[in-house]
Formats: sequence, structure tokens, C-alpha cells
Amino acid sequence: MKRIAVLLSGRGSNLEAIAESVQSGRIPDAEIAIVVSNRENAPGLEKARPRGLEAVVIPSKGRQREEYDREVVALLEAKKVDLVCLAGFMRLLSPYFVERFRNRILNIHPALLPAFAGLEAQRQAVEWGVKYSGCTVHFVDENLDAGPIIVQAVVPVHDDDTEETLAARILREEHRIYTEAINLVLSGKFRIEGRRVIRTG
Ligand code: GAR
Repeated sequence: MKRIAVLLSGRGSNLEAIAESVQSGRIPDAEIAIVVSNRENAPGLEKARPRGLEAVVIPSKGRQREEYDREVVALLEAKKVDLVCLAGFMRLLSPYFVERFRNRILNIHPALLPAFAGLEAQRQAVEWGVKYSGCTVHFVDENLDAGPIIVQAVVPVHDDDTEETLAARILREEHRIYTEAINLVLSGKFRIEGRRVIRTG
């Protein structure tokens, strides 16, 4: 049984999607071992607890990055976590954290990386005028939204889209591809060549 940690800061819809995939067997032989929020009032916490998932707050405000990450890593190691899924976790990870879980940390980003990294990716896409955007699940490395790409999905951007309507269209795809990416990584049927994640199974 593989043990997944989900780290979040906000709403928690990706957490819900992952939890449903685990529960329904779409992510087989896995469980969510722990949910961690860096914000006390993250609505995602209240999505976790009714499902019987252990959800803890480790407040990050005012903490130095690596000192904070050491506390999170210690918890994840105590919980014997195999895979860390960032799901709207709005913090850059320290090299210490990345090294401890090298190629075992995934992030979801609401744009087709390397376009529109950073905050408010959906707004960036609308303002830039792109005709297509989407979402990306990638391995986390020391840089922001930068590690090898595992899965992407494309959505059209319509002329009358707002940041909100585009975000909603992208979010449906996020929920689908996060499960796909987790399955690929947990299956081990891939190799990483440079920046490329290549399926082997
Ligand atoms: C998602 O759209 C996710 O892609 C984005 O935050 C949202 C979290 O929603 N993440 C980033 O922008 C990371 N740079 P959720 O809390 O409902 O899963």
C-alpha cells in the first residue's frame, strides 16, 4: 500500500479529487496518509476530515523556509509517506525538502508550463490572449513550477472567458490528470531523461 501526503493552502478540490480516486480504486493500492495545510483556515481541511483523513495545520507565517520544511519533512517521514502531492500548496519548497523526496513530489499548476508559471496563471493566460491553456502535473525541483512534466491537458480559451470561467474549465482537467499522474508515478513505469518523463509500461 503506497502512502500519499497531500499538502494544500486553500480550497482543496484537488485533494477531494485525489481522495475520490483512492476511494473508488481509480488510484489502486494507495491511501492518503496525511493532509497538511500551512494555513489554519484552509477550507481544504474541512474537506479532509469528514472523509476520515488525518489533517494537520503547520502554520508557515513568519517561519524561515528550511526550518519550516524540516518540520513538514519530519512529519511526512514519521507517516512513512511514499509520495507527496502539492495541491494548491502556495509555498516554494526548500532544497532540503526536494532532496529528501527527490522525484517523489508532484505539483499541479493551472497552465501549460513553461507558460504562465507563478501566481494567477489563469489570469495571466486570459490577459496574454492565448487561444489554448490547460494544466500541468510535474515533478517538483528546486525552482518554481519547473521540474520534469508528467501529464498535461489542454483547454480552449474562449473570447468571452474571464479568469473565473477559464479557471473552472481548467479545474475539471486538473482533477482528471492528477489521478493519471499519480498512477503513473506510483506504478514506477517511467524513466526521467533530462527533462523528459518517458513511459515505459
Ligand atoms: C488549483 O487550480 C491549482 O492548480 C493551483 O491552485 C488551485 C488549488 O485549488 N495551484 C497553483 O496555482 C500552484 N502554483 P484546490 O485547492 O481547489 O485544489
